[in-house]
Amino acid sequence: MERETKHEVGVRLFDFEIDDVLVVDLGPDILQKLKSNIMKDWQSFKPANNTLAGQIKDEYALPDDLKKDVDRLVSQFIPHYDLEGYLSDLKYFGDVFWKFKLDNAWVNFQKKHEYNPVHRHTGILSFVIWLQIPYTMEDELQHSSYKDDCVNGCFQFITANTRGNFRTNQITTDKSWENKMILFPADMLHCVYPFYTSDDYRISISGNYVLDQ
Ligand SMILES: [Fe+2]
Repeated sequence: MERETKHEVGVRLFDFEIDDVLVVDLGPDILQKLKSNIMKDWQSFKPANNTLAGQIKDEYALPDDLKKDVDRLVSQFIPHYDLEGYLSDLKYFGDVFWKFKLDNAWVNFQKKHEYNPVHRHTGILSFVIWLQIPYTMEDELQHSSYKDDCVNGCFQFITANTRGNFRTNQITTDKSWENKMILFPADMLHCVYPFYTSDDYRISISGNYVLDQ
């Protein structure tokens, strides 16, 4: 059977250099309503600090209505992600019809100097959507004392190479990554480094999909 490869007009898909990570450029229009709904009410959201790894003061569970909106947006890209092979590689689940359920979703308001240590998620498939990133890598580079390999503000995956040694793969998540999303295996180690050059929030949504059986 021919696979469905179409996606919404205005949404571009492109591959990241790590095979298991799919990057989706959602663009500002698709996220506008979600972002304004979050910005309107976030201070009334339930804190999620006790379930998350981040050294970030403002981490909140998304309320059910916004969680549904996020699910509608993200779940349409799971079939595209499946093309990357990760899900079909999970043979130990047997020959089943894949059905996913968004288990949890949260929003982080990361401030200057805060960070997210190396961690993994629960579930099968995770995502991050960057709603706002208030700094550029040029500015962060100016601030860094180690300019050859500046990771300020970066999102970094930690993976093994073919010899079993660990290596780091960062996404330079600065302003140019606003309105982009990544889908990745939930157990893939990653972290977020602090930024130094803005007093505004770095705002991201993240969540985990589990198998709905
Ligand atoms: Fe994470």
